[in-house]
Amino acid sequence: MSQYPVEMNVKPDVKAFFDEDTFTISYVVKDPMSKACAVIDPVLDIDYAAGRITHGSADAVIDYIKKHDLALEWIIETHVHADHLSSARYIKEQVGGKIGIGEHVLVVQETFGKIYNEDERFKRDGSQFDRLFKNGDTYKIGTMSAFALHTPGHTPACMVHVIGNAAFVGDTLFMPDGGSARADFPGGDAATLYDSIQKVLALPDEMRLFMCHDYGPDGRPYRWETTVGEEKRDNIHFGEGKTKADFVKLRNERDPTLGMPRLILPSLQVNMRAGEIPADHDGNLMLKVPVNVL
Ligand SMILES: [Fe+2]
Repeated sequence: MSQYPVEMNVKPDVKAFFDEDTFTISYVVKDPMSKACAVIDPVLDIDYAAGRITHGSADAVIDYIKKHDLALEWIIETHVHADHLSSARYIKEQVGGKIGIGEHVLVVQETFGKIYNEDERFKRDGSQFDRLFKNGDTYKIGTMSAFALHTPGHTPACMVHVIGNAAFVGDTLFMPDGGSARADFPGGDAATLYDSIQKVLALPDEMRLFMCHDYGPDGRPYRWETTVGEEKRDNIHFGEGKTKADFVKLRNERDPTLGMPRLILPSLQVNMRAGEIPADHDGNLMLKVPVNVL
């Protein structure tokens, strides 16, 4: 890890927002030395059956930013989520901030641009986002330095964002008793995911890790914060004593038994647009359901 600018003495204030509908955790990450902050993985609410999109989850984040008089500098997507819609665009419109995602979002746009049969209005060049991060790219949040690690395997564009002594891992890994995310989405791969997890485990043992999801396995209360040391020791999929071969075997056996996420079809067409709802040729907001392609 010596090639990355890890700063364990920088300790951002982290405020978590748990979305009970999709088990997603969004974060406001604040610089302790200034009013600057970033938002990670914000949620847009949808009642899919009704086609109704609302902003309760996003407004909770916005209210928090306003109440504490924070300056939102970044809205970070750890990846193109398949299980919830992103409110990045809505939050940017309300309180500013630049939307950032991994550069391999282009791969996701190409794949799903075809699946949704998007026309030329949908650009596959990542231009819906303000910043496309490459592995190792650094950026500032107030006085804090942050950097992004490319962690493919769950999806091609997955990144872990390290901000001081806190890393936001997206779906690269789950809490120690939750294991890991599936690796069977288009562009996913179990062996690649294992290698990406090793990148995270190479961070200092005391690094705080913040999950994007927690499902409360075996009925335990929801939790979303752990450390590199705890994951190395206890993770049920890749912790002490588990080999890469064990991990690949487990994922390759389990993933085909998992159903598609409930919101994958609305999520991807919104999230590959940085949280913009697509419109038809008359300008009506409209979501598509491609039939028999997933
Ligand atoms: Fe995901």
